[in-house]
Amino acid sequence: MNRLQGRVFLIAGGARGLGAEQARLLVDAGAKVVIGDVLEAEGEALASELGAACSFLPLDVTSEAQWSDAVALAETLGRLHGLVNNAGVYKPVPLVETDTAEFERHTRVNQLGTFLGMRAVVPAMERTGTGAIVNISSTVALRSAPNAIAYTASKWAVRGMTKAAALELAPRNIRVNSVHPGPIDTDMLNVRTREENLRRVQQVPIKRLGTAREIAGLVLFLLSDGSAYMTGSEIAMDGGAAL
Ligand SMILES: NC(=O)c1ccc[n+]([C@@H]2O[C@H](COP(=O)([O-])OP(=O)(O)OC[C@H]3O[C@@H](n4cnc5c(N)ncnc54)[C@H](O)[C@@H]3O)[C@@H](O)[C@H]2O)c1
Repeated sequence: MNRLQGRVFLIAGGARGLGAEQARLLVDAGAKVVIGDVLEAEGEALASELGAACSFLPLDVTSEAQWSDAVALAETLGRLHGLVNNAGVYKPVPLVETDTAEFERHTRVNQLGTFLGMRAVVPAMERTGTGAIVNISSTVALRSAPNAIAYTASKWAVRGMTKAAALELAPRNIRVNSVHPGPIDTDMLNVRTREENLRRVQQVPIKRLGTAREIAGLVLFLLSDGSAYMTGSEIAMDGGAAL
């Protein structure tokens, strides 16, 4: 499968979990991938696993300077066709126990990081003549959930910014869509005990966790020409959790 042959994609938060699987699938499809993450050892290991088609650089998505470096590296490989704003933090805490620092940490990584990423890639995508941005939100931005006010606020912001950017960037031939995963089997779920996660699964109509591979397939579709008529869309992949 070489439908993305030679195209360049940037994945923020690509060192592990959903982002790492997106990198694997994109490389399988013939793309060149730059992964950026604060987890340097994991990022370097993934880049060596994927070979010449994949490069890693340290990227803290809250840093404007590091976003510039990431886009510059991507453009040394070819024309930048896509960005996945996948970096995220998640610490479920009830409203009255959420302190300002925790609220701001979620806002900075999940919301500001997504904004900075979109802003950083637009000039490069204009040079390419086209582009696709996929913002990873969550089912909590469709149906919401208790005890995660900071995460929920940041993921609703991602959903809203996706639509604002989609409207603004459509005339520039850049598409922007959001993906809303339900509970997916990655390290992010380790904030809960195994028993708590099993209880959550029982509330999902399709009674299992999703896989990183399944989300990556959707992301690849949204980055590819198969979704050329989609922008501003919010796609849940959640086993029916948002119903
Ligand atoms: N796993 C789930 O159940 C689930 C559900 C809904 C949404 N999501 C979203 O999917 C995305 C990927 O999560 P995951 O499940 O793979 O979890 P994960 O914790 O394995 O991956 C998150 C990645 O983001 C990176 N990251 C965190 N802060 C960063 C920063 N400041 N700069 C750059 N990178 C940073 C982490 O190092 C990590 O590699 C996140 O946005 C998450 O909110 C996950």
